[in-house]
Amino acid sequence: MSKNILVTGGAGFIGSNFVNYWTENHPQDKVIVFDALTYAGNLQNLANLQTNPHFLFIQGDICDRVLVDKILEREKITTITHFAAESHVDRSILAPSAFIQTNVMGTFTLLESFRNHWEKQNQSPDYRFLHVSTDEVYGSLNIDDPPFTEKNAYAPNSPYSASKAGSDHLVRAYYHTYNIPTIITNCSNNYGAYHFPEKLIPLMAINILLGKSLPVYGDGQNIRDWLYVKDHCRALDTVLHQGKQGETYNIGGNNEVKNIDLVKLICQIMDEIAPNLPVKPSHQLITFVKDRPGHDRRYAIDSSKLQKELNWKPFATLETGLKETLQWYVNNSQWWQPLLSEDYQKYYQKNYTVE
Ligand code: NAD
Ligand code: DAU
Repeated sequence: MSKNILVTGGAGFIGSNFVNYWTENHPQDKVIVFDALTYAGNLQNLANLQTNPHFLFIQGDICDRVLVDKILEREKITTITHFAAESHVDRSILAPSAFIQTNVMGTFTLLESFRNHWEKQNQSPDYRFLHVSTDEVYGSLNIDDPPFTEKNAYAPNSPYSASKAGSDHLVRAYYHTYNIPTIITNCSNNYGAYHFPEKLIPLMAINILLGKSLPVYGDGQNIRDWLYVKDHCRALDTVLHQGKQGETYNIGGNNEVKNIDLVKLICQIMDEIAPNLPVKPSHQLITFVKDRPGHDRRYAIDSSKLQKELNWKPFATLETGLKETLQWYVNNSQWWQPLLSEDYQKYYQKNYTVE
């Protein structure tokens, strides 16, 4: 059966990678991107789909219940893949309101609308609400703790992760209370093409190309577990086709690394692949800066449930995924240059004022 998929946040980093993946691998399905186009949304990420008759873009806010109701009915949506969120931890520390609004209230609005829509369709078992969440809901690990499994208790530490935890709890509650066919995924740090340059990897890549300093927070010993976005998209495909309703699946790339080692690796690869760097070797640009408040020390994901039950595994190593990603930033300055322009910075700052 072909699907009509609503992709919230489909103009953002992971959402747009997912839409590009899905339209290529499931061309019979109709994909409707629903996105507010905040500073993080970018229609350039979907530029090659403009003439695809199976693709539609609708600009709007997931908190707008009337609009969401209308779209679910008019487009006969069978599946929601919910990516839309405020996603940057540093911004959540400076200005948390939008995180509560979009991540908690927006998810609640979608759940209510989907419940109503699904009930009108006689509670079809083929419908799905896939909620894309984060490993940050589990809090921070010590160096010798085992990686997070789906059984870990929630212990969010930032306004961002607390808002995502709130949204996960709502999704869980809607499954248990109303039986709507939900699935939650919690993944680790993604990286790849179309990643907004406020996040570590694209920021470092672009600063190296521009000869600007590379700010490493605190002592640089914090650990993240990196997942190549293409592996993530395949995992979401697997979960959508084979995952069990009401379940949670962790998704990770088995790539734990300290921030400072990652930044050094980025420098090394950029020195090899980027022509005419203003500062070479680029590791000279590394600068230790003030730490992020409440900075989680370590994340690591155990994805053995997804691997054993649904037979998914990540293909990319950090080296192969990073090489592909960094080459993309070297080749696509026309994508990231406008995000650094004065006009864009004004808009970006306006939306990022300290509360
Ligand atoms: P992103 O910030 O790049 O994109 C978010 C998208 O959501 C943007 O296109 C934005 O315009 C849209 N959006 C924001 N508020 C909206 C609203 N009210 N209504 C409609 N659209 C709105 O985020 P991302 O990195 O692609 O993350 C996608 C999802 O994956 C998020 O839910 C995030 O919590 C989760 N996640 C991300 C990572 C990661 O490493 N990037 C890891 C784990 C989980
Ligand atoms: O773990 C999943 C999460 O990963 C997602 O839920 C979030 O949406 C996503 O933004 C990401 O959160 P992080 O805070 O881990 O990602 P970020 O790229 O902001 O930072 C990665 C690490 O690098 C973190 O330890 C902070 C550090 N850092 C970050 C920036 C932007 C620096 O040292 N310097 C920087 O300039």
